[in-house]
Amino acid sequence: MRTIIYNGKGGVGKTSVAAATALRCAKLGYRTMIMSVDTAHSLGDSLNVKLSADIMNVGENLDALEMNIVHEMRTKWSSIKDYISAFMLSQGVEDISAEEMAILPGMEMAAALFYVLQFKDNGEYDVVIIDTPPTGETLRLLSFPDVSNWYIEKLFGLIKRMVSIARVTVGKMMDIPLPSKEVMDSISDIKRNMERVKEVLEDPENTTIRLVLNPERMPISETMRSYTYLCLYNKTVECLIVNKVIPQDADGNFMKRKLEEQEGYMKMIREAFDPLKIMYAYQMQTELLGPEKLDIMADMIFGDSDPTEVYAKTSPMHFETEDGINKLYIRMPFLSKDDINLFRGNNNSIVIEAGEQRRTVALPLSMCDAEMLGAEFDDENLIVKFKRQTE
Ligand SMILES: Nc1ncnc2c1ncn2[C@@H]1O[C@H](COP(=O)(O)OP(=O)(O)O)[C@@H](O)[C@H]1O
Ligand SMILES: [Mg+2]
Repeated sequence: MRTIIYNGKGGVGKTSVAAATALRCAKLGYRTMIMSVDTAHSLGDSLNVKLSADIMNVGENLDALEMNIVHEMRTKWSSIKDYISAFMLSQGVEDISAEEMAILPGMEMAAALFYVLQFKDNGEYDVVIIDTPPTGETLRLLSFPDVSNWYIEKLFGLIKRMVSIARVTVGKMMDIPLPSKEVMDSISDIKRNMERVKEVLEDPENTTIRLVLNPERMPISETMRSYTYLCLYNKTVECLIVNKVIPQDADGNFMKRKLEEQEGYMKMIREAFDPLKIMYAYQMQTELLGPEKLDIMADMIFGDSDPTEVYAKTSPMHFETEDGINKLYIRMPFLSKDDINLFRGNNNSIVIEAGEQRRTVALPLSMCDAEMLGAEFDDENLIVKFKRQTE
């Protein structure tokens, strides 16, 4: 089963691109599922159908689901919810609602990944497409190598917070009810599922991440950071989709100015992401809603090619740590050390100039204060060495 995860800043067109991909997959005969995980659901609008928290058939070969964590809590994890409620009551706090529990960041994404496991086991889909929310938590969940305890930590983090509130309001600690076997079973189910999520996320043959952005400064910077972050955890981004590109034949002074500006941003994108595969979709003149418009978008992005193709199975950039030195490997074949010029750029980036090529790499937050020790080459990689100040 092929799983395609779309991520990117809000408003860049993730939902549209995800929906266009799903429609095209279904059209090609793949049994397709599209899941919207963003709480600001717009997948229904995009597809022009009313979706719900339950799986719905929305066309030939196409099912869709708008993840609703409150619904998941009520239907799948009610025993845990009941336990937490009982726990809260025992502490003198009013019953906690599923809505309140649903505020945990990243819960929707975790629930979506559980669905992916379920689909993988029962084999009912060929392709699963996930439209993910533009949050740090999504990236963290996608990239963190060991996510098995993540959920549990979140859950108990919430309980701890609630207890501290209880202490303030009630004044003293009361007896804590013991979780029932059912609750413990549910918790171990979640834990087992989280362990299995790795199976899905660490399978570059089948599960890939595609980043959507626009040729504008903010989305580019944010995508660069996400890209580095994902590379840092050895997750492969297989391609970029640059959406809302202004066509060259656009007329009018305003559009001409936008086009000039765009040239610069396109250059910035190539400098930051080369040799990653980049696909484009033009800015359309009318609202991009409904299957017909989405079909045009799918044509722009995929042409006649198969949207389930895996464009890259390895990342052109990755990090390794050796003797306390962080090494950033960047695939740059055909270069020698004489060719390169290396310096720090704006916003915690490093800039690598090599002949005609220029590469800008956004550093992850954890490496902002790292000292750059220099660079070396192996067969095909430039290796930039860093030492972190605080370990
Ligand atoms: N290529 C495009 N041309 C015209 N409008 C677009 C294009 N891509 C997206 N849009 C519009 O931009 C808005 C945001 O798109 P959406 O897919 O919801 O973004 P996201 O999911 O990233 O927030 C929507 O109104 C959508 O119709
Ligand atoms: Mg969206």
